[in-house]
Amino acid sequence: MFDAARPRTATPRRYLMCPPTHFAVTYAINPWMDPSVPVDAELAMRQWTTLHDTYRALGHRVELIEPIAGLPDMVFAANGGLVVDGRALGARFHGPERAPEADAYLAWLAANVDTHVHRPARAMEAEGDLLAIGEVVLAGHGFRTDPAAHDEVAAVLEREVVSLQLIDPRYYHLDTCLAVLDDTTIAWLPSAFAPAAQAELRRRFPDAIEASAADAAALGLNAVSDGRHVVLAAEATDLAEALSARGFTPIPVELSELRKAGGGPKCCTMELRAAATDTIDTLDTSDSEEQAA
Ligand code: ARG
Repeated sequence: MFDAARPRTATPRRYLMCPPTHFAVTYAINPWMDPSVPVDAELAMRQWTTLHDTYRALGHRVELIEPIAGLPDMVFAANGGLVVDGRALGARFHGPERAPEADAYLAWLAANVDTHVHRPARAMEAEGDLLAIGEVVLAGHGFRTDPAAHDEVAAVLEREVVSLQLIDPRYYHLDTCLAVLDDTTIAWLPSAFAPAAQAELRRRFPDAIEASAADAAALGLNAVSDGRHVVLAAEATDLAEALSARGFTPIPVELSELRKAGGGPKCCTMELRAAATDTIDTLDTSDSEEQAA
């Protein structure tokens, strides 16, 4: 439960991002994508750069993977891998359009995070559908990730994996309808989940923040939290207010161009989580608000 007297604590994070050098909407693999709608590539790059700089300003470490021509969705780094406790899983994309991204991300993870990176045997879109929270991993299925891959994830990470069925095609990845805010707190859109998944989430997270349909439709739940600061779509104003009321600091960003491919801040960001023993420090932010506290 949130204690208003105790401020939320940010911890420094390590992120992997991919510049949208080759970003475009040339195919449609989710309802957000319409190749006939123009994309402003320069604006996409500016918006992505602001997101990158925002993480840096918050004190996080951001690493980059080389973008590959012909892979317009490679900017969505969250789908390239899942790293928990220093153990890495690569991805296996559901459709052929993004399939070649898997090798690129796998190679990067092997060179920079975990030489034993696991290549999944079943369709598995990594942090798009798999969200680590506390001691468990929440795992979406229904559109992209094969539920059989959930067992693979549990075996590699030696963690409980909680399978959640997604039912709304606009929220085709778990990270489009559920945001992890800290080890015990989520924000979500209940209607995106099948009844059993809704019940499971209500049982595990009784004080979850519910997003409005409008904020979810701005991909407001595709947010990145460091435990205190929550980077989210600027349009999701009610959600930002709800976060503030719970002691979080919302950090709004504009990502209109990437949203044309169905992506927001979280989709652009793969978190590289070190083994627990490596992450004992607390983020020293320079917010005046925090200095005053
Ligand atoms: N166009 C991409 C796709 O459909 C968007 C991926 C968004 N990533 C995410 N983590 N939700 O695969």
